[in-house]
Amino acid sequence: MDELQSIIYQLTGNYYTKERLCLLEKKLQINNSAKEIDKLFKEKKLTKDILNIITVPETKFFREKLQLDTFMKEIVLKIIFPSVPKGQPVKVASFACATGEEVYTLAMMFEANAVPYQIIGFDINESYLEKARTGIYPKREMLDIPQEYHQFLDIKEDSFKIKDSIMKKTQFKQLNLIRKEDFAPYKELFDAAFCRNALIYFDDNSKLSAIRNIAYTIKIGGFFTVSMTEVLSRIHTQFFETVKINNIFFYKKIK
Ligand SMILES: C[S@@+](CC[C@H](N)C(=O)[O-])C[C@H]1O[C@@H](n2cnc3c(N)ncnc32)[C@H](O)[C@@H]1O
Repeated sequence: MDELQSIIYQLTGNYYTKERLCLLEKKLQINNSAKEIDKLFKEKKLTKDILNIITVPETKFFREKLQLDTFMKEIVLKIIFPSVPKGQPVKVASFACATGEEVYTLAMMFEANAVPYQIIGFDINESYLEKARTGIYPKREMLDIPQEYHQFLDIKEDSFKIKDSIMKKTQFKQLNLIRKEDFAPYKELFDAAFCRNALIYFDDNSKLSAIRNIAYTIKIGGFFTVSMTEVLSRIHTQFFETVKINNIFFYKKIK
């Protein structure tokens, strides 16, 4: 394994193919001082700038809306909410949340359905989380948000901001999916956890570590969701029972 590939893999679980590695090496040389690259090799430390280059922030509001609608209608309203003790919020984790669009999408959906909730977004990249915590997005991202949810936005000339009432029920925390110790505070805390479009960059081993860590945070009977385009093998779903609704797979924690 190439040294750079191996360091990134050890530190983040992301497996860089030869082609992606080539592009990455170019980007690192163009954007980074020799000092930072040296630090990466010698101290095996990821600086903010290097993390910005090796992680992919691509996300959007209401990404895979059919899956989210099914989750809300068939899982939250029919299974989770009725089983949560009265007065308690439904607790959701959004792992690898990037700049927060998934967290606020889910929050708006809970608001629209009058279901009390608490959502924590997690990501390895603190720069993305800083952006998420502002709740401010460029106006063009409004195109992804259906009209009925615009009531949850404060709309300005070039940007919009998620309403404070929603922001109060969301939090963003740094966490590395492959570091077991990062998960210690969240044992069986969540009724549902998402980790969409992140594990595609992992290999089988790091994917298993990440899923084992995520499973640890989900209550027995709670649900895990990956992207509709991601396929999990049996070894990765060993903690879950597969539930198929509207042709979409959800994973229910059984042990
Ligand atoms: C393509 S985005 C996915 C965003 C969102 N979940 C979605 O589906 O739209 C992938 C995210 O995974 C995060 N990530 C990559 N490796 C990670 C790790 N080891 N621990 C936590 N987050 C990680 C990246 O920082 C990035 O924000």
